[in-house]
Amino acid sequence: MSTAHFATDHPYDAIIEPGALERLPEFVGGAAKVAILHPQVLSGKAQLAADLVRGAGAEPVLIEVPDGEHAKTSQVLAECWSRLALAGLTRTDLVVGIGGGATTDLAGFVAATWLRGVRWISVPTTVLAMVDAAIGGKTGADLPEGKNLIGAFWEPIVVLEDPLLLVGLPEREVRSGLAEVIKHGFIADERTLELVEQNPAEALDVSGERVHELIARSVAVKAKVVSADLREATSVGEHIGREQLNYGHTLGHAIEASEHFARRHGECVALGMVFVAELAHRALGLDASVVERHRRVLGSVGLATQYPDSQSGGTGWATLRELMSRDKKTRGNTLRFVGLREQGHVAMIVDPPEQQMVDAFRALVGQHS
Ligand code: GLY
Repeated sequence: MSTAHFATDHPYDAIIEPGALERLPEFVGGAAKVAILHPQVLSGKAQLAADLVRGAGAEPVLIEVPDGEHAKTSQVLAECWSRLALAGLTRTDLVVGIGGGATTDLAGFVAATWLRGVRWISVPTTVLAMVDAAIGGKTGADLPEGKNLIGAFWEPIVVLEDPLLLVGLPEREVRSGLAEVIKHGFIADERTLELVEQNPAEALDVSGERVHELIARSVAVKAKVVSADLREATSVGEHIGREQLNYGHTLGHAIEASEHFARRHGECVALGMVFVAELAHRALGLDASVVERHRRVLGSVGLATQYPDSQSGGTGWATLRELMSRDKKTRGNTLRFVGLREQGHVAMIVDPPEQQMVDAFRALVGQHS
């Protein structure tokens, strides 16, 4: 068992332990009604949560939402608000989100907006959500015009991370989550990289203990970063706040959007990390051995580290470049990348020369210049 503390305005813990879901009743205190948002595929777990809520003396209100990103629409939001109104959820009541990052994003945003904010509990069920999406107090939904365009910082009262909920998760999903684990390794935790390097197969086995250790290490990295800068407000000069969690995401998001989400998020971030490592090699003098380590570690768990060129179905540089300049992390016309000076030492790369970006992209598609 491990607990990571998020020391934000409304502090909370992420509890990582097999059976953590069973601890739900400890946090129901004072609520007469508990809305439980979940996708259909997790109906069994939602029912278990409902029984736990009932056992704690509160009335569960089960709300089934569409699977994955399909849940994060204005229409689903409006349906959830109507359900809460019909159920008579009051200020002292509670929302629980059980699912991947999309479900917990939606549940958190429903909680943030209901009666100007009610308490909520995040119960992530994928590796990606456990180490990133469901734990840092970012909540929101999408618009047809773009992902996460509406949202709020609204911390959960607790995150219950139950590794038993991962059993049966498709390996592709596990890999996608490991990309974020490895991201935390490169920005802040050498030991994570060593653990993956020592035994990549163990890192992929969600029924084994190694993956729990990796998740706990990753949550600890994120807790430290978010505690210092919940609202992503403090990247000044050499000091980089929450923005560092965006490592690999600038190109990653562009690939994700250009391919209409055909690749999993972590698969895109893995490609984005290789690109930005190549860019940091050129712009910040990152040692070539660290760039190669990106390819080796990511490749060892089966993540692609080479992007197809446009003749082979990949999106061309010009389109990706345009999408990156529209990324919501871009400030004004300034293109910003989180880079590394060395393993574990992040540094911003601001408006790098075009040629350096083109060369880094060429290296990503395997055309060495
Ligand atoms: N996933 C990036 C963040 O939480 O800031």
